[in-house]
Amino acid sequence: MMASDAMPVRLIDLAPAVADFRSEVLVGLSRPQKSLSPKFFYDGEGCRLFEAICDLPEYYLTRTEMHILTRHAGDIATALGAPVTLIELGSGSSRKVRLLLDAVRPRRYVPLDIARDHLFASASAIARDYPWLDVRPICVDYSHPFEFPDIADDSRRIAFFPGSSIGNFAPDEAVALLRSVASLLGRDGGLLIGYDLKKDPAVLHRAYNDAAGLTAAFNLNLLRRINRELEGDFELGRFDHSAHFASDDGRVEMHLVSRVDQVVGVSGQLFKFAAGESIHTENSYKYGMDQFVGLAANAGFRPLQTWTDAGRLFCVQLFGLDDSRAGLFADAT
Ligand code: AVJ
Repeated sequence: MMASDAMPVRLIDLAPAVADFRSEVLVGLSRPQKSLSPKFFYDGEGCRLFEAICDLPEYYLTRTEMHILTRHAGDIATALGAPVTLIELGSGSSRKVRLLLDAVRPRRYVPLDIARDHLFASASAIARDYPWLDVRPICVDYSHPFEFPDIADDSRRIAFFPGSSIGNFAPDEAVALLRSVASLLGRDGGLLIGYDLKKDPAVLHRAYNDAAGLTAAFNLNLLRRINRELEGDFELGRFDHSAHFASDDGRVEMHLVSRVDQVVGVSGQLFKFAAGESIHTENSYKYGMDQFVGLAANAGFRPLQTWTDAGRLFCVQLFGLDDSRAGLFADAT
């Protein structure tokens, strides 16, 4: 079918304003341990760098999850049943959902992402390649509760949350996020989620300190973005990328470490850095399966099926809503 036959894609824009970016950055840089949210990595260059990271030999996550999805697409489709609306959190380039679309044949695909241009391009490409699919992108910061547009129909809502993006959230935040996801779903909804498993710290270290330096560039690009969008004057050469596995917390932490004593301006405010002081830019939590099932249970989800790779690097799980949670919707449907 020709590209022109595809339905044009209309994006619902609930993107955060620059003012929200500014206030979060100013608050984060004012903390005793300076911190910036990883959701701000994804400007145009950040999206490009992240895609390149996904193809790195050291970054086992993407290829392992794609292998799992490819291998089990038929089982996943059977478990989801039909008809479904797939709501993807952090859809990025929409590479992973493509592995499921032919098998699952959802009625509708609702990709959610904070990066507007990247989302629009990816959603348009999906609409072109799958002309039978109703594609409804929403640009939104899904880490805050938002009003999900009322798409009235009887399809089963499945939240698709691949990539171990849930790992960016501390366990209590992850529970809160999954609870708000649960509230989008309706009683027969489901959650198909991919998360990274605990493993040899040396493997983790390589994945977040790649030889080509793309992860370092991705981390440092956040400072470039602040310079451009928030009138910052970070000198990128004065900060080093650092990533290590913090075993007590079960997470990889990324930081930007000041090489020298310095003062940096952002939006007219000055921030002092001592040599060796860092900005904490990302957490990537790594879970055991039991641990993750426990976390999901706190958000009202019960495990239905689990898929993993032979090396037990990564896990994809389907959850349903547990009975008490589903009961919340008993009157509504
Ligand atoms: C997109 C959050 C899953 O934590 O592995 C990749 C982002 N950071 N390399 C991850 C990331 C550094 C990634 N997530």
